Amino acid sequence: MPLDLPAGITLDEGPGGLPRLTVATDLCTAEMYLHGAHLCRWQPRAEPHPVLWMSRSSRFEAGAPIRGGVPVCFPWFGPKAGDPAAPAHGVARISPWTVDRVEIEPDGTAAVSLTLASDARTQAVTPDQFALTFTARLGGTLSMALTVENRGQGPLTFEEALHSYVAVGDVRTVGVDGLAGATFIDKTDAMARKAEAEAPITIAAETDRLYLNTSATVTLTDPGLGRRLRVAKSGSLATVIWNPWIAKSRAMPDFGDDEWPGMICIETANAADNAVTLGPGGRHTMTAMIDVSRLG
Ligand code: BG6
Repeated sequence: MPLDLPAGITLDEGPGGLPRLTVATDLCTAEMYLHGAHLCRWQPRAEPHPVLWMSRSSRFEAGAPIRGGVPVCFPWFGPKAGDPAAPAHGVARISPWTVDRVEIEPDGTAAVSLTLASDARTQAVTPDQFALTFTARLGGTLSMALTVENRGQGPLTFEEALHSYVAVGDVRTVGVDGLAGATFIDKTDAMARKAEAEAPITIAAETDRLYLNTSATVTLTDPGLGRRLRVAKSGSLATVIWNPWIAKSRAMPDFGDDEWPGMICIETANAADNAVTLGPGGRHTMTAMIDVSRLG
């Protein structure tokens, strides 16, 4: 059935023939793929640089994740426990989603909702039975909500992340505030648990940290692009900070060798100790809100 889209939003095919919604309103420009419900671009009109980072080497193909933007990770984060052959970060980011609602709200915000329900294809990878709704509200600020409903007969335990890749001038010059004192799992140090002692956090090596039991807003100060970005959240107790640095970038085929200085991931998540369990019919919503301001 053809979609009835409001002025300012179009549907076409992007690279790899993947269906893509493009937003161009008075408030922002944005791009979202139905593949993975993957937001690849968001840029408020007043902001001179794209907010989300995208790799020039990203794949755009059914069954593969897109590198950059905001991958939706579900129902596990990273490798699946006990099943190293399962796709990293779950099935949501490599599945085709369905458009549920596209509208321009009275204040000019474009609201796009996509859904994904477990089916024979997801159950070939995981027995979990679920219905997901991802809503992005795209305006001068970005707000994203991921709702999970347990459609199974028993409890559903899952991990999830809105794995936001943020574009930065040079990651070696940014500061990340909001996580001081939080305990993190250091994936670059055999999963050792540590308390964050640095404030602001700076990036001077491969960084892959899963902060636990924190609902704090994270603030990124980026002198290179002259801006400050805030990531606020609800329904999320974990935050991930990731930069692959030199060797890991080289090892990833869909990530340019020289691209690592231009990005940092600030991920709104529930993972590890903060995995979520829902009873049959239970629902859970996690949100992430991003706003950008110029440094004075
Ligand atoms: C981060 C993880 O969230 O995602 C890292 O903490 C991982 O360990 C990174 O390397 C990228 O994952 P992927 O599967 O997209 O290459």
